Amino acid sequence: MPNMLSMNEMENDTIMKLLKRAQKFQSGESLPLKGTVVNLFYEPSTRTKMSFEMAEHRMGLTVLPFETAFSSALKGETLYDTVKTMESIGVDAVVIRHGEEEYYRQLTGCKTAVINGGDGSGQHPTQSLLDLFTIYQEFGKIEGLHVTIVGDIAHSRVAKSNASALKQLGAHVTLICPSEWSGGYESSDRLDDFITHTDVVMLLRVQHERHIGKQTFSKEDYHKLFGLTVERERKMKDSAIVMHPAPINRGVEIADCLVECSRSRIFQQMANGVFIRMAVLEYALTGEAI
Ligand code: CP
Repeated sequence: MPNMLSMNEMENDTIMKLLKRAQKFQSGESLPLKGTVVNLFYEPSTRTKMSFEMAEHRMGLTVLPFETAFSSALKGETLYDTVKTMESIGVDAVVIRHGEEEYYRQLTGCKTAVINGGDGSGQHPTQSLLDLFTIYQEFGKIEGLHVTIVGDIAHSRVAKSNASALKQLGAHVTLICPSEWSGGYESSDRLDDFITHTDVVMLLRVQHERHIGKQTFSKEDYHKLFGLTVERERKMKDSAIVMHPAPINRGVEIADCLVECSRSRIFQQMANGVFIRMAVLEYALTGEAI
């Protein structure tokens, strides 16, 4: 069965098929699927975990509960042995979020389909697909759009997944961040140079939990330099939209009053996450993107 591990391994044709399939699910198409799924979340999540659960229920799948805090992971069982256990008891697909980058390399010998729900600072393919779906719905295309991704690039699996997929699909991508957060990627620290002509401003969460012990910005300084302030939002093109994968640090990446402004697609992204995950589950369980 196909895995869904990284946007770096996904061809444009597969991406577009998944977006179009998600569109069908959004339009009300239902396709009961047979299969058993387990969501293995070793890092916290609200959106990814809950929207996978919603998608699994809508597809009629059997979902076995798994709570890391009450599992044998606490006795030191490895991820490989956990997934092999799932395979042995008849699980068809696992959704995994794990703090280790590229954790999935150790699972190549497993027959159960693996869907990556986020690996450390590596990749977050289903978030990227739902972001691409949101952009495609808005503009009817991805090629030629200017997308500005702003924030904690070094730690952001969302930025990495989206930057490569967007470029592969023909968008112009600009990365904006403090130079020390660039992670070695080509970037600028001058958001104001790009805000007037970008089609999509994609804000990233400042990952405080990954900055412990390091010098960082005050909330006010970050907002002033890299946040979507009311003044910056006013300079955006009429047609431009604002995105954020969430959770949001209100008043840091985005002014509180802009979170639900007319340009914001933040909650639409979350709604779209269910349809994309239905398409991804179908792909993982049937072996093809329809
Ligand atoms: N966007 C996202 O991955 O959110 P969660 O961490 O809540 O799943």
